[in-house]
Amino acid sequence: MPLLIQNGQIVTAERQYTADIYIEDEIITSIGTHLEVPGGTRTIDATGKYIFPGFIDPHVHVYLPFMGTFAKDTHASASQAALVGGTTTYIEMLAPGGGEQLEDGWNLWSGLAAGHSACDYTFHIGVTRWDDETEATLRELAAGGMKSFKVFLAYKGAFGIDDAALYNTLALAKELDVIVTAHCENAELVSQLQQKLLAEGKTGPEWHEPSRPEAVEAEGTAHFATFLEMTGARGYVVHLSNALALQAALDARARGVDLSIEGVAPHFLLDRSLTERPDGANFVMSPPLRDKANQAALWKALEDGQIDTVGTDHCPFDVDQKAMGKDNFTLIPNGIPAIEDRVNLMYTHGVSRGGLALSRFVDALSTRPAQLFGLYPRKGAIEVGSDADLVVYDPGYRGQISAGTGHMNVDYSAFEGWEIDGRPEYVTVRGQVAVEAGQFVGEPGRGQLLRR
Ligand code: URP
Ligand code: ZN
Ligand code: ZN
Repeated sequence: MPLLIQNGQIVTAERQYTADIYIEDEIITSIGTHLEVPGGTRTIDATGKYIFPGFIDPHVHVYLPFMGTFAKDTHASASQAALVGGTTTYIEMLAPGGGEQLEDGWNLWSGLAAGHSACDYTFHIGVTRWDDETEATLRELAAGGMKSFKVFLAYKGAFGIDDAALYNTLALAKELDVIVTAHCENAELVSQLQQKLLAEGKTGPEWHEPSRPEAVEAEGTAHFATFLEMTGARGYVVHLSNALALQAALDARARGVDLSIEGVAPHFLLDRSLTERPDGANFVMSPPLRDKANQAALWKALEDGQIDTVGTDHCPFDVDQKAMGKDNFTLIPNGIPAIEDRVNLMYTHGVSRGGLALSRFVDALSTRPAQLFGLYPRKGAIEVGSDADLVVYDPGYRGQISAGTGHMNVDYSAFEGWEIDGRPEYVTVRGQVAVEAGQFVGEPGRGQLLRR
């Protein structure tokens, strides 16, 4: 059924204006005032509401075998949570273990999403080893539209790659015009520091941060940047967490390195003191939550556009999974769930209570990810011809985050009890209403794999 969204404040990365949006066959077909529409059109009154382009989460983990267990979500649960939170597209990290063939990984990861996600999705293709087979599969996947790779400089013995594999991956990416996303922490330093702390009897979750300090991430960031400089590839540092690493990335940019920067919601809002609580394991992720002082630097860099995008690094483990590391912090599955809460948290603490311009908020959470990952202007825009992925956002809503009322398949929230100053009232995915009055009403499995 055609859809008309009337009288909303349309907010894009470039401008803000009041207009009606008419949608037919999954696409925005006109934008204007007093649009003439055929009978049988469904109308949504968006008076007093913002209309944002569907938000894009450029960094999520849904299926993830990691640290002796599995992340908890399925594409059914993750996509419903995403949609209720205003995210209409997510990019999952496909991360086969170093002993696994990439082609098998592709078949597994893409098979788990197909027919299960209620929103659109695509993948960063994880490169966890380098050989002829990997190269051939990367060429094939890039030709098929999977135009971003992922490397982990951390996680020695799991996903982590050595410098030779890093160099080869970047050289291929340059040839194929593929952007490479990277987790930037020096794996050897993390490993050495972990062993040292454990030997000193420092086993609790509060020692996770000192085992991978800011300088270790700054080294990883500079290391990645140097390899980008030598190969001419385009890079994107994921989940950058602190001011020192930020400076390393900005220094590289100043030298002309093509490096984009992602922040993730937990690092803007949570700090390392949380790991000192009895439930501290629930706040263990990598790079770790940092000293609070870093948050001001992250927010400023986001406001100024130095940080390009905001994702989540959504990675849900239940409390009993987190307990795997109760006697040894290096065994706590790393990750914090947030796919449902990113938009509301960044709106509340950035736009409503902070200094983040509404246009920059839309840019960082929708338009910029679309541009960097080859989805724009199909996604990330409100234009005639764009997919009708829209968020009708109610800035008058007041509520609280709670695992009990959320849709992520996980039994705790790192943001339990946090207030939100707004929420998506309606969300459309390619013209179909998937969220109404804040509740999921969409079609499970309707999401499409986005080839870029
Ligand atoms: O702690 C995290 N970030 N877990 C997920 C894996 C990763 O490094 O992105
Ligand atoms: Zn990571
Ligand atoms: Zn991640």
